[in-house]
Amino acid sequence: FAISSQMVSASCPSNIALIKYWGKYERQIPANPSISYTLNNCKTNTSMEFLADEEFSVQTFLAGNEEPKFAEKIEKYFRNIEEYLPWILKGKYIIKTENTFPHSSGIASSASGFGAIAKCLMELEQQFSGIQDGDFKVRKASFLARLGSGSACRSLYDGLVVWGRTKEVEDSSDFYAVQYPNDEIHEVFKSFNDWVLLIHEGEKSVSSTVGHGLMNTNPYAERRFQEAHENFALLKDILKSGDMSNFIKLVEHEALTLHAMMMMSDPAFILMKTGTLAVINKIWDFRRETGLPLFFTLDAGANVHLLFPADKDEDQIKEFIVKELLQFTQNNGVVKDVMRF
Ligand code: PMV
Repeated sequence: FAISSQMVSASCPSNIALIKYWGKYERQIPANPSISYTLNNCKTNTSMEFLADEEFSVQTFLAGNEEPKFAEKIEKYFRNIEEYLPWILKGKYIIKTENTFPHSSGIASSASGFGAIAKCLMELEQQFSGIQDGDFKVRKASFLARLGSGSACRSLYDGLVVWGRTKEVEDSSDFYAVQYPNDEIHEVFKSFNDWVLLIHEGEKSVSSTVGHGLMNTNPYAERRFQEAHENFALLKDILKSGDMSNFIKLVEHEALTLHAMMMMSDPAFILMKTGTLAVINKIWDFRRETGLPLFFTLDAGANVHLLFPADKDEDQIKEFIVKELLQFTQNNGVVKDVMRF
């Protein structure tokens, strides 16, 4: 390695899981495989200045919000991945970062944030070692991002992305994410809206780290991990055939299962709010009345991701959202994204 001072930058989107990762083993090994859509507009943009030969330290500057522990967290993360990047502690870092979506919107800024940092690190590694292999670079970035925040490893690829070993997806791995094969996906799933209703903008009462940990003593955990594998087999057929009604059923079931696991933890916790439940019921009524494919998924929080195909029916669905669902948000908060690949 020829280490020198460098300035690099990277941009990385967030993602939203369809089959959820919830529960893990040592060193961020997932208890079950997961699959997500990578978002298009919700991104973190990060620049990283590396000052060689200075004592190891990390300074961070975040546009728009104060997060005093962030530098400490990154420092710890860098120490943690030294065995994979032997040069990493040999300098000082000045990291500037901004999100293109609101802070604490429930959109995973840890996924886009660690994704962008891992990409910057691989830019540095390329400068120092001259590696040329683009696939290796992305895969290692995904591997490194995983060690920052598990779900972040899926943000390194576009489209539908799988993390965790499943027999349903060739090359899938517990150590990094891989892209779901594009020719195995029906066209209707390649152009999808994700509108996030901001039901509650405050801090979550239980972090995802604690939530994952509580799966260790959850009496339903083993069954849940097994079910995630079963759902992969179902999803594979659904994605291929374009079976929208079973897609909706599976995705909503996954979201509710995630939250059911929280309720069955000891101690139990609930991250949904009244507005979350009201929106879910409204969506079900709407589907019953119109038959249109509007459905939801949830992350580890109160906000609701509204999913619907970007096609001929989208205007009618959008009109319904604005008229009937925005009332359950704080300050009419909605973040609009669309996945196209
Ligand atoms: O990446 P973490 O450790 O913050 O876990 C997030 C897990 C969920 O967002 C709830 C589900 C998922 O697969 O993204």
